[in-house]
Amino acid sequence: MRVKKAIIPAAGLGTRFLPATKAMPKEMLPIVDKPTIQYIVEEAIASGIEDIIIVTGKGKRAIEDHFDHAFELEETLLRKGKTDMLDSVLQTSSVEIHYIRQKQPLGLGHAIWSARKFIGDEPFAVLLGDDIVENDAEPGLLQLVDQFNKTGQSVIGVKQVSEEDTQRYGIIDPGAIDGKLIDVNKFVEKPEPGTAPSNYAIMGRYVLTPEIFKFLAEQEPGAGGEIQLTDAIQKLNEVHSVSAYEFDGRRFDVGEKFGFIETTIEFALKRPELRGQLLQLFREKLDEEERNK
Ligand code: G1P
Repeated sequence: MRVKKAIIPAAGLGTRFLPATKAMPKEMLPIVDKPTIQYIVEEAIASGIEDIIIVTGKGKRAIEDHFDHAFELEETLLRKGKTDMLDSVLQTSSVEIHYIRQKQPLGLGHAIWSARKFIGDEPFAVLLGDDIVENDAEPGLLQLVDQFNKTGQSVIGVKQVSEEDTQRYGIIDPGAIDGKLIDVNKFVEKPEPGTAPSNYAIMGRYVLTPEIFKFLAEQEPGAGGEIQLTDAIQKLNEVHSVSAYEFDGRRFDVGEKFGFIETTIEFALKRPELRGQLLQLFREKLDEEERNK
């Protein structure tokens, strides 16, 4: 069965970006001029997804407004012949976006479980908004979908991280490794420092079979007292093997401050209208630092 539906959880409080996220969802923080969640939606579209359900919470209305048609704006841009701007506001109009509210902040696993009725009995994708994956050749999620199409088994996107960072992620205990495809003995959410079974970290992209909902329904709270998706994936793995796939493409961590700033700079440097000015600014700053030494 083809993977046509995706869940994007967006119910988190975004406390790392306070006060910006006091009245604005963190998913709406822009990288240059596009909200982070739009990069995620565009990756889903480029991976063949036709329906997206965004799991929201309190104070997330701006996300719904963002993906809604803005008739007045579109009309004005059309009348003024501003076709580039019009295209930019219509970029995600090819996909159906639906919304559901997570009633209680019980964790990522619970957020995914909240969308079970929308998914029904078919395989689906999950994309987390804290990672933007850049790959012009083949979007990150599409690489997992291709892999799923070969085996029909759930597949989880991973990338290698430094030893010190393993405690921030879901980590796999790898079995046989065949190129990018990795058998998984065990999935562990946020292992204690020094106990990680490898440095392969779950990187916010998943293709899951609907059996996962049964395990999510029974899942007890795990790391951080939250119902963890990783723990339910491990339960699924005990019955139907779940693989990991080390996908290609650079991954940008927009879920924490430095990563967010780095992503903004990298994306701005790719824009011809900004690149020159930005490089000039860096040169001036470096010179200033030198002079003040
Ligand atoms: C979540 C997942 C974790 C994964 C991480 C990055 O953690 O629970 O397994 O490695 O996203 O994609 P969070 O960053 O929400 O704490």
